[in-house]
Amino acid sequence: MKYWRIPAFIFVVTFLMFFLYRKSSSDALLQTAIIDSASCWTGAGPYQIPVDSAGTIIRYGYQLITNTAAYLGPNGRVAHMSNGMNCQNCHLDAGTKPWGNNYGAVASTYPKIRARSGLKESVEMRVNDCLQRSLNGFPLDSLSKEMRGIVAYIKWLGNEIPKGEKPKGTGIVDLPFLKRAADSAKGKKDFIISCASCHGINGQGKAALNGIGYLYPPLWGNNSYNDAAGLYRLSRFAGFIKNNMPNPCNYHHTILSTESAWDIAAYVNSQPRPHKDQSRDWPDITKKPIDCPIGPYSDNLSEKQHKYGPFRSNSTVGKK
Ligand code: HEC
Ligand code: HEC
Repeated sequence: MKYWRIPAFIFVVTFLMFFLYRKSSSDALLQTAIIDSASCWTGAGPYQIPVDSAGTIIRYGYQLITNTAAYLGPNGRVAHMSNGMNCQNCHLDAGTKPWGNNYGAVASTYPKIRARSGLKESVEMRVNDCLQRSLNGFPLDSLSKEMRGIVAYIKWLGNEIPKGEKPKGTGIVDLPFLKRAADSAKGKKDFIISCASCHGINGQGKAALNGIGYLYPPLWGNNSYNDAAGLYRLSRFAGFIKNNMPNPCNYHHTILSTESAWDIAAYVNSQPRPHKDQSRDWPDITKKPIDCPIGPYSDNLSEKQHKYGPFRSNSTVGKK
């Protein structure tokens, strides 16, 4: 008996199993993963806000973004015009976190023409979009102290980026598509394991102890973002959670697989949430991103396929 054959056999079998495993786990994805570890843009912290008259309004903007509910929420001290969430709940670390839906490219790319409105949008208009959709509320007057603060802070964050440039790590990552439709039944199972401990089994979140804003913000229901918000598109939700949830994680250390991120997105976005009339969005429907969950469309795919996929590999999903 040649004993060396036994370890050689084990080695070959292990190698084959590893290879087959790798193949099967990548089979579900249409493209290879695009998350890499090269360094990304990250924003300056609040202690770097200048201590002068310009700094005063920037600092007020920082307060509004991190603690929106205290100023503009249901019991806000300035106005009652939004749903109790903070901008920071979705624009993590006050809009400075790499791939955390940060504001890095706002100063350098606005004003710009956006396909959703068909208009040239200022930063003020874009902020009001989130107020009316993500915070299911009302717009701020563009001359108000609050809007001036928010815009001053966002512009200050991105002030070193050359005009027209979008640094790596800004906004939300575009994940590779699945070959299949995202599966909300699988997503429900993963949600219960990875998300429900904080966001609640009914997605309702958990109010902060002082009653202002949330310890864990809601993911669906009356107090969540409405169906015209960016996160209601599967690609935005999946891209956001891949690099940021379960909290805390980041693009160097992700927890969810890409498949699971898509499936959880399908589950959360199949739950009830406020409705907003959006019949005037996407005036040119040929510019509508493939994963817009509400029709009409310029192709003949169903609303269901536009919501859950499968999406074609050449679609421009990240386009806003
Ligand atoms: C429920 C989540 C959510 C909340 C809360 C929210 N946003 Fe957003 N915001 C988004 C998403 C999603 C996008 C689009 C990102 C994308 O398409 O890549 C976005 C985009 C933006 C952009 C444009 C970024 C760019 O690079 O073009 C600005 C500016 C913005 N939000 C400001 C705000 C402000 C100010 C608040 C608070 C008043 C706020 N948002 C609250 C989810 C949210
Ligand atoms: C350990 C607690 C915790 C877990 C687990 C967790 N989150 Fe979160 N999540 C948070 C907190 C806290 C925030 C708000 C972050 C902030 O304000 O800085 C948040 C924010 C969010 C947001 C943006 C705000 C909103 O409510 O729309 C989404 C979407 C989200 N989480 C989805 C998920 C999903 C999906 C999972 C499971 C994969 C998950 N989270 C797991 C704590 C958690």
